[in-house]
Amino acid sequence: MADSELPASSLPPPAIGDGLLATDHASLTMRPMGRLFWKFFFAFWLALLLAGSGVGSAVWLHQRALDAGRDLEGGPRAAFLVGETAIVFRYGGIRALRELLSDWDAREGGAHVFVVDDAERELLGRPVAAETLAQARRLAQRPGEPRIARLERVAERDYLFFVPAEGRAPRHGAPSPWLPILTGILASLGFSALLAWYLSKPVRHLRAAFDAVAAGRLDTRIGARMGRRRDEIADLGRDFDHMAGQLQLLISSQRRLLHDVSHELRSPLARLQAAIGLARQRPETLDGALDRIEREAIRLDRLVGELLTLSRLEAGMGGTPGEETDLVELTRIVAEDARFEAEAAGRRVRFFGDGEALIQAHAELLHRALENVIRNAVKFTDEGTVVEIAIVRTSDPERLVVTVSDRGPGVPEDQLQAIFEPFFRGMSRGRAAGFGLGLAIARGAVEAHGGHICALNRACGGLQVEIVLPAQTGFG
Ligand SMILES: Nc1ncnc2c1ncn2[C@@H]1O[C@H](COP(=O)(O)OP(=O)(O)OP(=O)(O)O)[C@@H](O)[C@H]1O
Ligand SMILES: [Mg+2]
Repeated sequence: MADSELPASSLPPPAIGDGLLATDHASLTMRPMGRLFWKFFFAFWLALLLAGSGVGSAVWLHQRALDAGRDLEGGPRAAFLVGETAIVFRYGGIRALRELLSDWDAREGGAHVFVVDDAERELLGRPVAAETLAQARRLAQRPGEPRIARLERVAERDYLFFVPAEGRAPRHGAPSPWLPILTGILASLGFSALLAWYLSKPVRHLRAAFDAVAAGRLDTRIGARMGRRRDEIADLGRDFDHMAGQLQLLISSQRRLLHDVSHELRSPLARLQAAIGLARQRPETLDGALDRIEREAIRLDRLVGELLTLSRLEAGMGGTPGEETDLVELTRIVAEDARFEAEAAGRRVRFFGDGEALIQAHAELLHRALENVIRNAVKFTDEGTVVEIAIVRTSDPERLVVTVSDRGPGVPEDQLQAIFEPFFRGMSRGRAAGFGLGLAIARGAVEAHGGHICALNRACGGLQVEIVLPAQTGFG
């Protein structure tokens, strides 16, 4: 039994992918700009170009409409003057018109109505810019009010009436549109690249991190690489970290379990071999050796059986429906069985519970869980003391609690959770007898019923284990 003196779980768990692990996350291989970047980039760029050209065209059209009468005076005053002079011309003839125009023109701040005939001569010989004339002609042909330019046909000749805008700076050549177009294209290129980079960068980090995890580097984390982002992508990064952490925990516990199982199997096998060797060397010890071989075989069988139960519980029972079970009756049976064992060892067992507590459960598994906890209590309680088992009805009708309390040494506070781990054996008395699987199986069984199990040290000394089960439990 020398081997079992060393708690297998006290061996340091093998680290995940030792030597392979890259604690330095800079080792995450980043690919150059991926397809996502280019997709974002072209989508944004196209959108910006379309929006830019749409707005540009609208502004240009509006400007052109404004420019149509840029060199002419607009508004009701100009329309009135043009209308009046046209009437004077129609009824008073060219001489009356000329007199009126020269009279107005001579006055300070007077109305300067221009009249140009179809030979492009102004009636008073005043100079008119070709562009102004063209604008007046365009406006005179356009229907609508106010009519600030007007065409009159008298004696087979066309006369154009309009009022040039005063004090307008002479028109220079329009500025080239290419400069703003080029600036817009360059700015949209830069902005699209920046946006595409901002959106695709975390995705590339995520991808690299997934690759790293797939390659076995389970300590890969990307939370820090998300910077100060507060959006769904950053949440995704945090979820990834959580997932990687859980995976790391799961795999390390699986490895530790494998390690403990091999360690546990090795001791009885070594003792079997020793017994066989002894029997071969000294045939007269055959009987003793066969007894020993039988004991070891039984122990191996028990160990393998418990491991199978544990692995079945961990795999989940696929939602097998439970049968209706009376928890009070089930606990009473287990307590009765334990009483015999306890009384033979000078300890007592007391059961508190009455009535019925019906639950949907897998009776055999619950029986195993209760038995493991109660047998521990009987095993660890001091000689002459009582193990108390009670069904407690709380104020919450949805919950049933079974408590198992002993008067033993209890468990160090920092190990109260660890005792439920497979192969954990504390330094208490009686530890050599078990594998350290009893409470792990109990926890698996209780959790499979949707409940939970915990242990606490009693104020008066000893350990109390609490099993909490939902009243209407389904088997999950
Ligand atoms: N009632 C208790 N009082 C004190 N220590 C306890 C008690 N119950 C469990 N423990 C501690 O928790 C450890 C794990 O218990 P568990 O039932 O899983 O294993 P075991 O009893 O040693 O072996 P097995 O149940 O597989 O035969 C025990 O070795 C013991 O140190
Ligand atoms: Mg036990």
